[in-house]
Amino acid sequence: MAESLLIDASLPKEEKYKALLPQIEALVSGETDLIANISNLVAALRQGFGFFWVGVYFNKEQQLVLGPFQGPVACTRIPYHKGVCGASYTRHETIIVPDVEAFPGHIACSGDSKSEIVVPVIKDGEVKLVLDIDSDKLNDFDEVDKRYLEQLMQLVASWY
Ligand code: SME
Repeated sequence: MAESLLIDASLPKEEKYKALLPQIEALVSGETDLIANISNLVAALRQGFGFFWVGVYFNKEQQLVLGPFQGPVACTRIPYHKGVCGASYTRHETIIVPDVEAFPGHIACSGDSKSEIVVPVIKDGEVKLVLDIDSDKLNDFDEVDKRYLEQLMQLVASWY
């Protein structure tokens, strides 16, 4: 069944995440297909927050490979040691980049991207995939995004 999201665009960011969580929970409950669930999550994040680019990279073939995304076309493969995605993979932690120009090794898939957050999903000590969100505004991500995006990724990739 297709549903549309109910997120009031005028709400503060944390309220939007609070509204989104149960809706994503309902959307993915009973659905075990990872690609389907991730596809809906990235669409919901782009639709609900208006981010410039939202997508995932999977750990496969000894690198990070592009998965479902919403936004302009992006780099297809990222080596483990490159970019913000590679740093999140290597450090096993969420990375917030307030100004991508100031992040050594940042990979610019688009010149319009100004700030970024990358959230890893870790299972059995290994990063299985990362969620990458780019904003066309500087300093657009903080601890609120980190907290809720980590929860959302746990929801959609819980069994993976
Ligand atoms: N900026 C990322 C690359 C992916 S694109 O932003 C979609 C990075 O530095 O890893």
